[in-house]
Amino acid sequence: MTSIPNVNTEILTHAQQQIQQDLTMALDAFSMPEPLKSAVYHAVMLGGKRVRPALCYATANLKPNHPHYAAVRRAAVAVELIHCYSLAHDDLPCMDNDLLRRGQPTCHAAFGEDTALLAGDILQSMAFEVLGSRLFDTQHSVDSPIILKQMQILATSSSKMVCGQVLDIQAEGQHVDQQALENIHRNKTGALIQAAIMMAAVTIFDGTDPAIPQLRKFGQAIGLAFQVQDDILDVVSDTQTLGKTAGKDEQVDKSTYPALMGLEQAKAYAQQLHDQAFAALAYFADDAEQLSQISQFLLSRKS
Ligand code: IPE
Ligand code: IPE
Ligand code: MG
Ligand code: MG
Ligand code: MG
Repeated sequence: MTSIPNVNTEILTHAQQQIQQDLTMALDAFSMPEPLKSAVYHAVMLGGKRVRPALCYATANLKPNHPHYAAVRRAAVAVELIHCYSLAHDDLPCMDNDLLRRGQPTCHAAFGEDTALLAGDILQSMAFEVLGSRLFDTQHSVDSPIILKQMQILATSSSKMVCGQVLDIQAEGQHVDQQALENIHRNKTGALIQAAIMMAAVTIFDGTDPAIPQLRKFGQAIGLAFQVQDDILDVVSDTQTLGKTAGKDEQVDKSTYPALMGLEQAKAYAQQLHDQAFAALAYFADDAEQLSQISQFLLSRKS
């Protein structure tokens, strides 16, 4: 059984349905021994807001009749697989040591550390295998330079995520300044969110299109805002709503925005970053309706 959290936008619900179907098709195409297979399905299929795929689809919908739907669908699957791998590893005892994720036992709590570690590993390589595959292709197959660009974007952002995670762990119990914290958050979380947008951007726009730098700015702002909001929710929300243990950051003395600047200032900063994101979207006027709706959801989200 899969459980998808309630969301307040039609766009996101639609994206969740699409990605649920596409992730199932992608995972079903891999043959894996047990218990790895069950651990992989557990890490991927049980809930999640699916924000990164939604951003990927909404970016592609800036050009509604583009011919590269299959490549966009593969990009959305690939970015979500990397995200799920990052969560399985983030929860490990040697990392954040969490037992609850998406309202379920974490991957290692359900399958053991060895299997959870390997589930993360295989999800990472699967993501790239999906990007280079013909999954979802109908008559149009996309040019290989586009696939190469998608792969470069995803690989770079995954490496950044790992670097950010190292800095995050090093910053536990330390009192890092705002510049250092921003660097952690941009790497561990912002980069992959920006990648979701940029993989779609390079698929539908020419490399020289002025839309590309606008989307990069949008992705940078919304990506950092996402982790600022995650830090805020850890303070203001509860375990039931979050589907992960609330108050965990303070408990282990993580370096977060509320810890650095106080809750109210952190909220104001999240709003400021969202304003920056909306300013970047202004370039697309009404065409950016979907991206704008997702951004609204992100700012008002409760989990
Ligand atoms: C949680 O990400 C981890 C961060 C990078 C902040 P999400 O809040 O997108 O988690 P799911 O996918 O909805 O569970
Ligand atoms: C996670 O940040 C960033 C990742 C790369 C997974 P957090 O450690 O704050 O994410 P949660 O709060 O456990 O979801
Ligand atoms: Mg963490
Ligand atoms: Mg964590
Ligand atoms: Mg967190």
